[in-house]
Amino acid sequence: MFRYQRFVNLDNNATTDVSRPVRKRVDGVLRRCHGNPSAAYGLARAAATVLQDSRELVASAIGAESDEVYFTGSASEANNQVLKASCELRPPGSNRILTTPIEHPSIMHTLEYLAEGGVEVVTAPVDDRGRVSVEGLEVLIDERTFLICCMLANNEVGTIQDVRAVAALGRRRQIPVLSDCVQALGKIPVDVRALGVDYATFSAHKLHGPKGVGALYVRCESPMLPLLHGGGQEAGMRAGTEGLHSIAGFAEACRQLPELLARSDTISARRDSLLAALREMRPDLVVHSPAERCLPNTLSLRFPGARNADLMAALDMNGVAVAAGSACGTKENTASHVLLAIGLTDEEAGETIRISLSDETSERDLRHATRAFRDYFEHRTASIPLLRPSCVDEAFLCDEQNYLLDIRFEIERKLMKGLPNSYNASVVSFGRYVHQIPKDKNVIVVCSTGIDATPIAYSLHKRGYRRVSILLGGVVGWQIQHPKLYKRFGNQNIKKLTPRR
Ligand SMILES: Cc1ncc(COP(=O)(O)O)c(C=O)c1O
Repeated sequence: MFRYQRFVNLDNNATTDVSRPVRKRVDGVLRRCHGNPSAAYGLARAAATVLQDSRELVASAIGAESDEVYFTGSASEANNQVLKASCELRPPGSNRILTTPIEHPSIMHTLEYLAEGGVEVVTAPVDDRGRVSVEGLEVLIDERTFLICCMLANNEVGTIQDVRAVAALGRRRQIPVLSDCVQALGKIPVDVRALGVDYATFSAHKLHGPKGVGALYVRCESPMLPLLHGGGQEAGMRAGTEGLHSIAGFAEACRQLPELLARSDTISARRDSLLAALREMRPDLVVHSPAERCLPNTLSLRFPGARNADLMAALDMNGVAVAAGSACGTKENTASHVLLAIGLTDEEAGETIRISLSDETSERDLRHATRAFRDYFEHRTASIPLLRPSCVDEAFLCDEQNYLLDIRFEIERKLMKGLPNSYNASVVSFGRYVHQIPKDKNVIVVCSTGIDATPIAYSLHKRGYRRVSILLGGVVGWQIQHPKLYKRFGNQNIKKLTPRR
């Protein structure tokens, strides 16, 4: 029988859905604007006009001039570009970058990469809410410092940094400042001129725009180098024919910004009412997000004693999506660096979830979500554990007590090898395979990324399987964690279950 399942997305810091006006705009450009903006005929000129109009819209949304905005394939790319170009352009003798410990992985990992090449990366401390102090940064500046990097709003705890003060410090000491403004745009007003930064980065999909398009702001007098070389697109700063439909979609999302920002009080009121309901349920909950200078939609919470992976899986079963740490970190096997930086232990980080609302989160959604939390805490929802990929090592794979059930689609099996010793069943008409799955073993449901496994795991649980878990991150997560095992043993000793007629 068909049962209506309500889906409530409380993970809007990971991404937002594409709004109707953006979809319409993207579709219109795809249908009508086929030209290459760099060519020199009528069709191309129409495309060039769309590109220029889009640039002006995005520029005006962030308080920049249009020739200060470059479109990129993502904010991660833009962050890479600023960091790598700054290194290449640094004055002789300069070798230090100052940053905070709660930056996005696209900053952190790029800095780690640059550190391997000899750049000294120095991290200023943050307090228990993720706030960095200007004084804390200033004492770390020396004559070799050539860049300060400080995000405007944190994606995990929602902390808004005093970037204006950081940029003033940079100006005083003649050090350029990069600010990752990805989470801020669409949630709080952003004006790069007023902030006074030299570089800022943005991503369309955080404000109901398409994925795969970002923007890089470079203050007119600040130096920059391309990351991608090739044609002269984006004034020579980013080679590659522009994805015009995505860029136009980004601009359309920016056009909707005033309406989006006008709803931020409603969003924060809804977030606070959800918090009050959760607090009533669990008076011991701990809030990591700051009470002031916090994104209006974001809430980082710890429920002592509740494993976030279990809670997430149980909520997911009720159609409610929340995150543990950031989406980019979910497949990694470590506690969130942001939570550790604000002073949590590994265990506390493992009890923390991030809730992030959007302007589309309704009161009804929140009632549904509150019910799902209550069901979990009052033990009305079965809890299916998530198994970290690091646990699935060679010994685990050879243990006869473990039964790896691979429910990927055939096309996914062609794209990636399966875990050794696993049993293949089809997710379509799954009920016809169940009789062969042993009840006395640890059944680990494996899909491509960990998402499709949830309903299957719960359906097994309902059928009386008590030792069921889900491989977190699926085959993709496991392959990242164990590249050697994947290469050597992937696809070995796979057995195909046969469906009952
Ligand atoms: C703070 C922050 N910076 C950068 C990014 C990367 O954006 P993109 O997905 O466009 O690479 C994200 C995305 O999660 C983010 O939250």
